[in-house]
Amino acid sequence: MTDYRELNRASWDERAPAHATSPDYAVEQFVADPHFLSEVVRFDLPLLGDIAGLDGVHLQCHIGTDTLSLARLGARMTGLDFSGAALVEARHLVERAGPPVDFVESDVYSAPDVLGTGRYDLVITGIGALCWLPDIQRWACVVADLLRPGGRLFIREGHPMLWALDEAHGDQLVVDYPYFETVEPLVDDDDGTYVETNASFVHNTTHSWNHGLGEVVTALFDVGMQITQLVEHDSVPWDAIPGQMTKLDNGEWRLTDRPQRLAHTYTLQAVKRPG
Ligand SMILES: C[S@@+](CC[C@H](N)C(=O)[O-])C[C@H]1O[C@@H](n2cnc3c(N)ncnc32)[C@H](O)[C@@H]1O
Repeated sequence: MTDYRELNRASWDERAPAHATSPDYAVEQFVADPHFLSEVVRFDLPLLGDIAGLDGVHLQCHIGTDTLSLARLGARMTGLDFSGAALVEARHLVERAGPPVDFVESDVYSAPDVLGTGRYDLVITGIGALCWLPDIQRWACVVADLLRPGGRLFIREGHPMLWALDEAHGDQLVVDYPYFETVEPLVDDDDGTYVETNASFVHNTTHSWNHGLGEVVTALFDVGMQITQLVEHDSVPWDAIPGQMTKLDNGEWRLTDRPQRLAHTYTLQAVKRPG
């Protein structure tokens, strides 16, 4: 298996069931409380604003906890992911916890072919999504194709400066990986995952790519999107540098020592220009 999609899908297919039973994804809280929202969506809400009544698509929706949260805020949501196993968990979640969400199995780059073009008011993605895609310009085309004129992209994503750090350096922040998009992937072999679980895994080789902030902004601009917001944050939803981060009351993680050294995540919003 050398195709990046096959390698990465095998890794995600294996991890999805473990994620669905991890306390970190809080599936049982969604079932117990019909108003429960994921910590990611609660963090995003002040910048996301009112999404009630919008047609939304969540790209790389994984096991659907954020997608369901967005549906609970009143959007008519579709979730798209290429991991069939992740979508099994996502469908099971909405059957148990509602409201309904459509889940569609597809590669991101095929999303306009599968979902149709110009059908959405909101494209939402992020939190460990862009790094699995080799070409940010192609991704920006997908976003623009999916949106209606006047429709909006909302993304909060791990900051490319964070992705460029090698976490295995004790108490040092060491820039060891590319900041910019590269042709060749970063090949990783990691038998773990980013949530608490006792599960063990055998499909551990993944291919990923970084995308500089300027590359993301420029790619969107080049496909006719108007950037309306770019905010950098000093926290991230997962323990991105184990041993160097402190968990906050809102579930986010922040560098323990001088967090002002590092932009941890960013929120970017952009609107598809009419015409
Ligand atoms: C880290 S998860 C996304 C996290 C999500 N924000 C969450 O926490 O629920 C990454 C997801 O991207 C999906 N993915 C990776 N590459 C993809 C591709 N080329 N097309 C569609 N989905 C992809 C994986 O299957 C996985 O579910």
